[in-house]
Amino acid sequence: MSTEPSPSPRNRYLRNWLSFAGGVLAVSAFFAFLFLFAIDLFAHNGNPYMGILAYVVAPGFLFLGLGMIAAGVWWQRRHEKSAGTPLPNLLHVDLTRPADQKKLKWFVVASVGFLLCTAIGSYQSYHVSESVNFCGQTCHTPMKPEFTAYQNSSHARVECVACHVGHGAEAFVKAKMNGVHQLIGVITGDYQRPIPTPIRNLRPARETCEECHWPNKFTANLDRIYQHFLADETNTPFAVHLSLKVGGSDPAHGPVGGIHWHISKDNKIEYLATDERRQVIPWVRVTSPKGEVTEYRSPKFTNDISQFEVRTMDCIDCHNRPSHRYRTPNDSVDLALSTGKIDRTLPWVKSNAVAVLIQPYQTEPEALQKISATLRAQYPTAKNVDALVAEVQGIYSRNFFPEMKADWRAYPENIGHKEWPGCFRCHDGTHKAVGDPKKKIPASDCSSCHTILAQGAGEQLQKLNAKGDTFIHVDAEYENFDCHSCHTGAFPK
Ligand code: HEC
Ligand code: HEC
Ligand code: HEC
Ligand code: HEC
Ligand code: HEC
Ligand code: HEC
Repeated sequence: MSTEPSPSPRNRYLRNWLSFAGGVLAVSAFFAFLFLFAIDLFAHNGNPYMGILAYVVAPGFLFLGLGMIAAGVWWQRRHEKSAGTPLPNLLHVDLTRPADQKKLKWFVVASVGFLLCTAIGSYQSYHVSESVNFCGQTCHTPMKPEFTAYQNSSHARVECVACHVGHGAEAFVKAKMNGVHQLIGVITGDYQRPIPTPIRNLRPARETCEECHWPNKFTANLDRIYQHFLADETNTPFAVHLSLKVGGSDPAHGPVGGIHWHISKDNKIEYLATDERRQVIPWVRVTSPKGEVTEYRSPKFTNDISQFEVRTMDCIDCHNRPSHRYRTPNDSVDLALSTGKIDRTLPWVKSNAVAVLIQPYQTEPEALQKISATLRAQYPTAKNVDALVAEVQGIYSRNFFPEMKADWRAYPENIGHKEWPGCFRCHDGTHKAVGDPKKKIPASDCSSCHTILAQGAGEQLQKLNAKGDTFIHVDAEYENFDCHSCHTGAFPK
């Protein structure tokens, strides 16, 4: 090779503008990659764009550059061929020549180096595309509501992909294909506000939630206190102390029964919903461990089920907001009052705080500014008004996303039954077994899912009744299974 006169005929092909530009691009991209890689390695600032630049953008340009070099060579060769110039041999290696041996060694070293860099690069690209930052922060506006709620949830340390993608190559490829589609949506601004729920193609809970939460585990009763404050002048406290009968789903680990009975691997519960958000469930089918099938229908539903999607019940049919829970203004103000972040002695503060949160704002800055102005006008002499304003603004920023039209109203929560139908979608007393109208999905009694240990305020809360109290509703008037028709999450009707 080295014996040939310069420029060597092969290098000749590189002498065109396209290959030259490609070379410059590839070399710059390679150094940019090294530089960004070093920064990413040493600076732990968690900037989501750094990873993307280093492992997605820089390698992209590197390959573009290499591609341009190749295209240039091809183009040049074709050009010369058509011009009738004699074509040299493409490659001629003679290992007896020391110069060729030396070149070969360098070639091997360079190739190994390049492959190593590519391997690190692709491993890192994989990591970046799976990271919480990539999912939650890169496409900032559309994911802001889910990301913010996620950070405030008990799953804040669980990666998005643990629930949304799951294990396995197939899941990975599917997610990436879906991701490309979403990326196009983000770039063109063509995405829905709010992002629709539920997700139709979410991995079955068996492959996500159950990787961490062992469904066979017996969970005893859970003791919970729901602390509220009424929307009156004195912000009267009212609490309900419940013992929730969560129970278990595997006889090897405790009695099967209670709320987690639904996920026992021996039972199969299927249902269909007639609306997009799965809030109206007129048909349920239970297959018992012995294979007996019971079909329940609500009275008005006489349709043929084949025109609907039948879903097998799993964790997310109850826990549908495990990591993206937008608290209702009622609950978030109650929480701030009970932890002392809002001063309970301010007259009407519960009512005023809820009212200012639910106004129709167009943007977050507008909302924050108006929240401040309104509360300052309502409490001109209160010395802790700054703290009040800061807390109500904080509640807004954590739970309301006007740019995406996302807040509690857009995302039903299925775990209870106060603000949304939840459990009462099925347990409402109207679902009767086909062929045996006396048999219903249990509902008749408020203590089938929980016992009210105590309710009220102060001293009343200290006297626990193990047998369970009947619910004393503040207003006394309520229809059994219709809590959500009045309790909207803001002011009850
Ligand atoms: C603990 C599991 C879990 C984790 C972790 C998680 N999600 Fe979700 N996500 C869910 C479930 C469950 C739903 C609702 C599914 C349904 O009802 O179909 C959901 C829904 C969504 C939706 C659809 C809109 C909505 O709110 O219903 C988006 C977008 C989303 N998640 C993004 C993310 C992002 C981004 C992250 C990481 C920052 C993340 N998720 C982390 C479980 C999770
Ligand atoms: C990667 C592991 C992991 C996955 C996957 C996961 N979780 Fe969790 N989950 C956790 C951890 C960790 C906690 C916090 C435990 C604690 O604080 O004691 C938690 C807490 C919870 C809690 C109790 C706290 C609360 O917010 O009420 C529920 C309910 C729950 N997870 C349901 C789910 C559901 C439903 C899914 C699937 C959509 C899921 N988890 C997926 C790890 C996981
Ligand atoms: C029929 C509805 C329903 C189904 C289905 C269901 N759960 Fe639950 N689960 C509940 C209720 C209700 C509680 C009580 C806590 C509450 O109200 O937030 C609970 C409690 C829990 C807790 C304990 C929370 C804590 O604060 O300690 C975990 C963890 C949990 N569920 C995980 C799961 C997993 C995983 C699945 C699927 C295998 C599942 N659940 C299926 C209704 C359900
Ligand atoms: C999709 C419909 C559906 C939903 C939603 C649902 N359930 Fe059920 N539930 C059933 C059916 C069906 C049965 C069993 C009826 C029978 O005995 O055949 C049942 C049984 C139960 C039982 C009795 C279990 C036992 O020990 O035998 C409890 C407790 C219960 N559900 C609690 C809940 C709670 C709490 C929620 C909400 C978090 C809920 N369910 C949501 C359909 C549902
Ligand atoms: C099918 C099961 C089921 C039945 C039947 C049921 N509940 Fe509940 N209830 C729940 C669950 C689950 C929660 C917990 C919700 C949560 O963790 O957010 C709850 C929560 C509550 C709360 C506290 C809500 C809050 O936010 O303060 C009250 C009060 C309550 N139930 C009253 C009743 C009354 C009254 C009845 C009878 C009309 C009743 N429940 C029947 C499952 C049930
Ligand atoms: C006819 C309408 C109506 C129905 C139905 C209704 N409530 Fe209420 N509820 C009210 C009103 C009004 C208040 C007083 C609110 C206030 O002053 O803040 C209230 C207050 C409450 C409170 C304390 C304050 C709060 O907002 O959290 C709880 C808890 C409660 N209701 C639970 C329930 C449950 C559980 C059901 C269903 C079993 C139910 N309610 C059905 C109208 C209703």
